[in-house]
Amino acid sequence: MREPPLTSSEPRITRDGIRIHPREDFAGMHHAGRIAAEILDAVAPMVAPGVGTGEIDARITELVTEAGAISATIGYRGYRHASCISVNHVVCHGIPGSAVPTGRAEAVRADDCLRDGDIVNIDVTVIVDGWYGDSSRMYVAGTPKPYALRLIRVTHEALMRGIAAVRPGATFGDIGHAIQSYVEGERMSVVRDFCGHGLGRVFHAPPNVLHFGRPGTGPVLEEGMFFTIEPMVNLGRPETRVLGDEWTAVTRDRSLSAQFEHSVGVTATGHEVFTLSPRGVFFPDLAAVGAD
Ligand code: MF3
Ligand code: CO
Ligand code: CO
Repeated sequence: MREPPLTSSEPRITRDGIRIHPREDFAGMHHAGRIAAEILDAVAPMVAPGVGTGEIDARITELVTEAGAISATIGYRGYRHASCISVNHVVCHGIPGSAVPTGRAEAVRADDCLRDGDIVNIDVTVIVDGWYGDSSRMYVAGTPKPYALRLIRVTHEALMRGIAAVRPGATFGDIGHAIQSYVEGERMSVVRDFCGHGLGRVFHAPPNVLHFGRPGTGPVLEEGMFFTIEPMVNLGRPETRVLGDEWTAVTRDRSLSAQFEHSVGVTATGHEVFTLSPRGVFFPDLAAVGAD
């Protein structure tokens, strides 16, 4: 049977359950993404030794409101904060204001204050006019160790190589492969237990965007798909464990972990990144910490 012709602006769901958005939906994603990025820009100066992760989250809560946005994470599956703040060997979903696991056995810090040399991921998701903007990036408190900076550089480059693979006709396996082959070539590991996701008018939609894979496998990318790429990279082994709070994911071997996340859309010729930093500070200013 003949199907009616589709115009390019007609919404559609692929056989893999992935929504194809018309061109006019890109504007809402750019707006939401920019607000997430502006918030991540604005808190950069707060990340310093002695500052509590709960203080940073409180400021993020204010910034979300001031922007006229809604936090996507407050109330999400019982989560109660406007950000996730993941320090050192916390892989993702670190709870702001909670004691930071130290990496020594089950020991935790007496408070939530950052210390000199900590590496910190802050992840913010906002809803603006119904559209979701989801981004995270790395920050450093004080002066981190050279191996920590190398981890941050490799993780950022991994995300950028994943994004570079985004174009119609490529596959999700191509994205995963671009990330995995680069990271493993740097003798670091890609976390398997968490992945990127489709988003749009919903927070987490198909597909699962794996940060590892084989070229040519997985769903084929089409113009109008919106999703995140958010690789988590460990200095040691890839295995993770979720703490008793049921959120905080840590590396099992307690090695350092880093993550960067962008929300992107597939265009006719490639991609657009929705969560670009207006101040151009997505990647931390390592020269400012005396690292360059
Ligand atoms: N922003 C995270 C992501 O990248 C999800 C956080 S869910 C929360 O998908 F509840 F932990 F905040
Ligand atoms: Co995400
Ligand atoms: Co996120």
